[in-house]
Amino acid sequence: MTTVFGVPVGDRTNMITAGPRGPVLLQDVVYQDEMAHFDRERPPERVVHAKGAGAFGYFEVTSTEITNYCRAALFNMVGKRTPVAARFSTVVRERGSADTVRDPRGFAVKFYTEEGNWDLVGNNTPIFFIRDAFQFMTFIHSQKRNPQTNLIDYNMRWDFYTLRHECLHQLTFLFGDRGIPDGHRHMDGWGSSTYKLVNSDNKPIYNKFYWKTNQGVKNLDVETANRLASKDPDYSVHDMFDAIARKDYPSWTLYIQVMTYEQAANWEFNPFDITKTWPEDEYPLIEVGRMVLDRNPTNYFAEVEQLSFCPASRVPGVEFSPDKLLQGRLFAYQDTARHRIGTNFHLIPVNRPISASVYPTQRDGQMTVDSNQGNAPNYYPNSFQNVGQNPKRYNEFRFQLPTADVDRYESKDEDNYTQTRRFYLSHTPEERQRLFSNIATELSLVYSNIQQKAYDMFNKVDPSYGAGVRMAVEMASKK
Ligand code: HEM
Repeated sequence: MTTVFGVPVGDRTNMITAGPRGPVLLQDVVYQDEMAHFDRERPPERVVHAKGAGAFGYFEVTSTEITNYCRAALFNMVGKRTPVAARFSTVVRERGSADTVRDPRGFAVKFYTEEGNWDLVGNNTPIFFIRDAFQFMTFIHSQKRNPQTNLIDYNMRWDFYTLRHECLHQLTFLFGDRGIPDGHRHMDGWGSSTYKLVNSDNKPIYNKFYWKTNQGVKNLDVETANRLASKDPDYSVHDMFDAIARKDYPSWTLYIQVMTYEQAANWEFNPFDITKTWPEDEYPLIEVGRMVLDRNPTNYFAEVEQLSFCPASRVPGVEFSPDKLLQGRLFAYQDTARHRIGTNFHLIPVNRPISASVYPTQRDGQMTVDSNQGNAPNYYPNSFQNVGQNPKRYNEFRFQLPTADVDRYESKDEDNYTQTRRFYLSHTPEERQRLFSNIATELSLVYSNIQQKAYDMFNKVDPSYGAGVRMAVEMASKK
């Protein structure tokens, strides 16, 4: 055994003291070093999605139909394998919280492609609560803890929901049966945001990504979830770890949906509004490939806590749509990574690309742990370093903006009800009863004026929705 500087240590158990009862000598530098490191070993947890499980594996292309739409090298051959890292998470609660809470689940996949890292950072829902990224900070505050009591506060949550009816579609999903998945292996994932694919003829098309679980969708009923939350709070983490350890490798099939520019201009909804789904009968699923997770982390902190995803990490052929929420996300993730794990988070092995990488101008910063590009010039252009460029293949798609007035556009009333109504009406009577009663578990705890606003909100979807929730709240309040 040695110190971190390699000096052999004879005793790692007892402090150096003057006599057997102390006091302790300041010269016990072995103790000091160990304690000083311990004092600093917890970096901030993720501001959202703090509790999660990660695993590694590969993505294998099963159909190249996607190459009609996308020139990304990872898709160019059936059978081609690209290494991946995946992390699944709950959203709102802290790093030590229970897995079986009603909360969306994060579904993030990093593809280590030959053209750099591509992060598909999605959730287990096709939609989201809000459609303008400026709402995100305040929405998350309403979900997290009350600034005075430090308690989860359902008044804050339902106050926010009832002031922003754009939450309705996601609420109907979240309080339905899929609100508590049976572990991470048994849920589907969606990229949720709308992306843009560009093919080798430089033709663009809008698209959505969808992962279907090959384990089958399974959800937990409320009683089981509550029991597990106290008996086995890390249920989803060990469910996946144990499955991979026994070689029962979980897998998902990736599909895309595509929408031409013309279709986008004429569709009844805004295709860049993340509170909307693209119906599969209008925009059919196109199979792309299969992700298999066949390796557990060997060290959780190194490989999962320090893993960092960002929707801005894209590869040539995958681009951003005008989706206002996606565009807002592009800034947040790498910004938080620099705060959470440091300026040079990209040098951490699990975040490094496997492709040869050249950053002509980025240098230095805390924890520069590679060669820092040696004596290569740190300015560009320069006459010494032959950095190849290929604008045709690598430049972003060039496009024209429609003439538009620059403003802060209020989007809160952009049809919050039509798709929610269709979704709600597709529920069976039993599913509806469970939806009402799941909503009532929270809504019965809030002020009556907010309850009334919630009934009014659900009534706008369908009168039976408002009435059902009201009845369930009245029953829950009597208990
Ligand atoms: C404006 C909207 C959003 C903003 C600003 C935002 C921001 C963030 C931030 C700051 C993190 C923490 C990242 C870290 O510490 O490494 C995070 C994590 C995450 N977000 Fe978002 N988010 C937004 C919406 C969404 C949406 C719509 C999805 C899904 C489609 C999503 C999926 C995720 C996932 C899966 C993670 C966890 C990644 C991991 O496992 O490390 N987020 N988000």
